[in-house]
Amino acid sequence: SAQLNTAAKAAGKLYFGTAVDNGDLSDSTYKSILGNGVDFGQVTAANSMKWDATEPSRGSFTFTNGDVIANLAKSNGQLLRGHNCVWYNQLPSWVSSGGFSASTLQSVITTHCSTVVGHYKGQVYSWDVVNEPFNDDGTWRTDVFYNTLNTSYVATALNAAKSADSSTKLYINDYNLEYTGSKATAMESLVSSLKSAGTPIDGIGLQGHFIVGQVSTSLQSVLNTFVGLGVEVAITELDIRTTVPASTATLAQQSTDYQNVIAACKAVSKCVGVTVWDFTDKYSWVPNTFSGQGAACPWDASYNKKPAYQGILNGFGYT
Ligand code: G3I
Repeated sequence: SAQLNTAAKAAGKLYFGTAVDNGDLSDSTYKSILGNGVDFGQVTAANSMKWDATEPSRGSFTFTNGDVIANLAKSNGQLLRGHNCVWYNQLPSWVSSGGFSASTLQSVITTHCSTVVGHYKGQVYSWDVVNEPFNDDGTWRTDVFYNTLNTSYVATALNAAKSADSSTKLYINDYNLEYTGSKATAMESLVSSLKSAGTPIDGIGLQGHFIVGQVSTSLQSVLNTFVGLGVEVAITELDIRTTVPASTATLAQQSTDYQNVIAACKAVSKCVGVTVWDFTDKYSWVPNTFSGQGAACPWDASYNKKPAYQGILNGFGYT
């Protein structure tokens, strides 16, 4: 029977992948599905390449956990997505508390991005260089980066990443970009102005955190708009959550929802791949953030494939 990465490749995509957190890897069932060679052609570190993990104090870099994920990807023959260089969250307090002048913060960003991207040089297909820069209404998120440097921090981060690894693809990644509207328009304007200025930018990541029955119907249209700017796109953190426990009817709807998201990516040739934000309900981030919700992944917490698995295959047109 068909499998997820096999189906993605048959549809002309580069990969089907998953987020992986270091703690998950002590679970041998988890590890064997992850490395079965047919479901996952790509991995993203769920936490261990973030700023708080890699530069917990200024100038002091640790890559131990990130390297575990990178080395596992290598031994499994999987592509790696880097996540992430600059984000307001999981930011150590020495950065988030502010107090740096504009020129110092600029140099802090340059050092962080070039060191992290440089450490993984040659190993990463694409990097989420900037994560979640916008509010849902399309205004800029007023984090320490924007408050100190206005929008210039984006180009600073992209340029630093480019000099550290000229061949990795540089992405900006955000959620709620999947619908036509102000947030997608804000991303379109940003990437268009970066392009005009000659700043390196290769891709837009659409995270894809959805709710069962509410998957965007304008996803394909947004993907086409972004691709029209001259960049590639990817679904970088797909999951489709619901109230738990999920009924049979809900799981059937979820399968259709997965199918529709995958079909939108399939239909856009420069949509290079899809990553789920972990593949099993056992380790999904959802219940920790949304109380009473979960069941968002294609495998349940006991590693049974849910109807969503077949929905993904259907979306790739592979049955
Ligand atoms: O590392 C500590 C550990 O020492 C402590 O014992 C434990 C107790 O709760 O917490 C651990 O930190 C947790 C960390 O994940 C590592 O497991 C944090 O509390 C928890 O908040 C953190 O959650 C992560 C979340 O980002 C933080 O915003 C999720 O695992 C991760 O899946 C999630 O991923 C984000 C993407 O990066 C960006 N897009 C949204 C997505 C979902 O929130």
